[in-house]
Amino acid sequence: MHPDISSVLISEEQLRVRVKELAAQISADYQGKHPLFVCILKGAVVFFSDLFRAMKIDCTCDFLGACSYGADTCSSGRVDLYKDVTEQIKGRDVIVVEDIYDTGITLDFVKTHLQSKQPASLSVCVLLDKPARRKPGIDVRPEYVGFTIDPYFVVGYGLDCDQEYRHLPYIGIKK
Ligand code: XMP
Ligand code: MG
Repeated sequence: MHPDISSVLISEEQLRVRVKELAAQISADYQGKHPLFVCILKGAVVFFSDLFRAMKIDCTCDFLGACSYGADTCSSGRVDLYKDVTEQIKGRDVIVVEDIYDTGITLDFVKTHLQSKQPASLSVCVLLDKPARRKPGIDVRPEYVGFTIDPYFVVGYGLDCDQEYRHLPYIGIKK
C-alpha cells in the first residue's frame, strides 16, 4: 500500500465488480438508445474508462472540465468550467459520469449547464456518494451510485489530493 494511505476503503476487486454491475444496469436501462457519456475531468477518468469498456450497447463519449476544489481538501464553493463538451448535446440521451457526489456543488452546476443544451434526457452516474457532506438546498439524486461512503477524504482510482494519487488502483483514506 502507498505510504500516504492509512487504509484501503474500497479494494480493486470491489471496484471491478461494482463497475461491471453499473455498466450492466446502464446497458439495460438504455437498451435501444445510443447514450452519450459526459465524463467530468479529471477525477472521473479512471472510473469512466472502466465503465465505458464494460458497456454492452453502442455509446459515445465526451469530456467536460470542471473543478470546485483548489489545492486543498475542502470545496472552494464555486465551480470553474475550464473545458466544455464538443459533441452536440441537443436531443441526446446524456449520462454524466463523476467521481464523487460530495457537497453537490459540481454536479448541480454541471447538470444545469448541460440541461441548457437541451438533451433528450440527462442522468448522473457517480462512483462515490458522501451524503453527510451535502450542501443544504442541493438535491441532485444521481440515478447510479457505486458506493455510499462516510465523509473521509479519499484518493485513488482517479481521485486526487493536490493532483497526486490518481493512479492508485484502489480507493484509500489519506493519512
Ligand atoms: P462537490 O463538493 O462539488 O465535489 O460535490 C465534487 C468534487 O470534489 C472533489 N472531491 C474529492 N476529491 N477526495 C478527492 O480526491 C475526496 O474525498 C473528495 N471529495 C470531493 C472531486 O474532485 C469532485 O469532482
Ligand atoms: Mg472532480
